[in-house]
Amino acid sequence: MGLTGVTLLITLMVVTAVTFPANGCPPADQAALMDFKAALKEPYLGIFNTWTGSNCCQGWNGVSCDPTTQRVADIVLRGESEDPIYEKSGRSGYMTGSLSPSLCKLDRLTTLIVADWKDISGEIPACITSLPNLHILELIGNKITGQIPANIGQLSKLTVLNLAENQLSGSIPASIVNLGKLKHLELSNNQLSGEIPADIGKLGMMSRALLNKNKLTGSIPNSITQLRRLADLDLSMNQITGSLPAQLGSMPVLSILNLDSNQISGSIPTNLLSSTGLNILNLSRNSLEGELPDVFGSKTYFTHLDLSYNNLRGSIPKSLSSAKYIGHLDLSHNHLCGPIPNGSPFDHLEASSFANNDCLCGSPLRTC
Ligand SMILES: *[C@@H]1O[C@H](CO)[C@@H](O)[C@H](O)[C@H]1NC(C)=O
Repeated sequence: MGLTGVTLLITLMVVTAVTFPANGCPPADQAALMDFKAALKEPYLGIFNTWTGSNCCQGWNGVSCDPTTQRVADIVLRGESEDPIYEKSGRSGYMTGSLSPSLCKLDRLTTLIVADWKDISGEIPACITSLPNLHILELIGNKITGQIPANIGQLSKLTVLNLAENQLSGSIPASIVNLGKLKHLELSNNQLSGEIPADIGKLGMMSRALLNKNKLTGSIPNSITQLRRLADLDLSMNQITGSLPAQLGSMPVLSILNLDSNQISGSIPTNLLSSTGLNILNLSRNSLEGELPDVFGSKTYFTHLDLSYNNLRGSIPKSLSSAKYIGHLDLSHNHLCGPIPNGSPFDHLEASSFANNDCLCGSPLRTC
């Protein structure tokens, strides 16, 4: 080894010694992790087998530490992933037990992902809202019960809140609108009730809001249309009433809007159907009425447009045949009448797209 080689080696050793203090994981963090482990049972994969020895920052499955402070920063335990450990065992993750409140002692935690373990029950420890650095909280796919902690809004750095596919009940806490950095809110498939906070429009960074498959009531807050970054909104399969906010169709980046299976009434706002950014629109199984506005055009591009099972009347607007593309169209189970327009967007559609209306006619239905 030449002189430069030796110098490089020495430099490396010094840098390494400075960046990774030999002492590693602080005993308090280690103890908190041991409590966390003790409250869970993972019988098949041996996820926690590596959680031994005195340095939790090294080689503990799913645990990582901040390199400078050596404090526990991330816990990432996914029951479904590409990790070879799952392939080897030929099954996905399964865990019972609950989330220990000792987690809240890990006050440098930025990421907590305990996802898709199917059978983790108990409640979300309320003290979790005292973790000042938490950026990502993902507990999707377990059997967590109880309510979302009331002061969840205290987590001022939170960008991802994913509690979908659990058994959470109660309402969406009012404080949630204080999560000024929140980008993804996923609460789908729980038993949440009550209304969507009226000032949800304060979540200015939000790009995805999935609240489908709950028991939410009340109407769609008007303020939601102020969310300039919202691209994907799913409120389907709730008990939402009232009419559609007129400005929904003017949201700059909204491309997926699923509001199906609710009790929404009133007419479909004109700008919702003339919107060129919206590509998936499902309003199926509501109580929408009135006529379809004649506002389609050469920029209309829907991969899915499902307006089935409503009380729509009148005829199918001729302008719909000038659409650039309509993948899946469903106008069935309404009270539409008159000739189905001709044109390329309709060529691939089957009779089922138009079935069970009052008096529609023309291809693919009977001739007029
Ligand atoms: C729209 O929603 C209905 C009812 O929830 C569902 O059955 C249907 O498959 C959805 N349509 C599309 C195109 O996804």
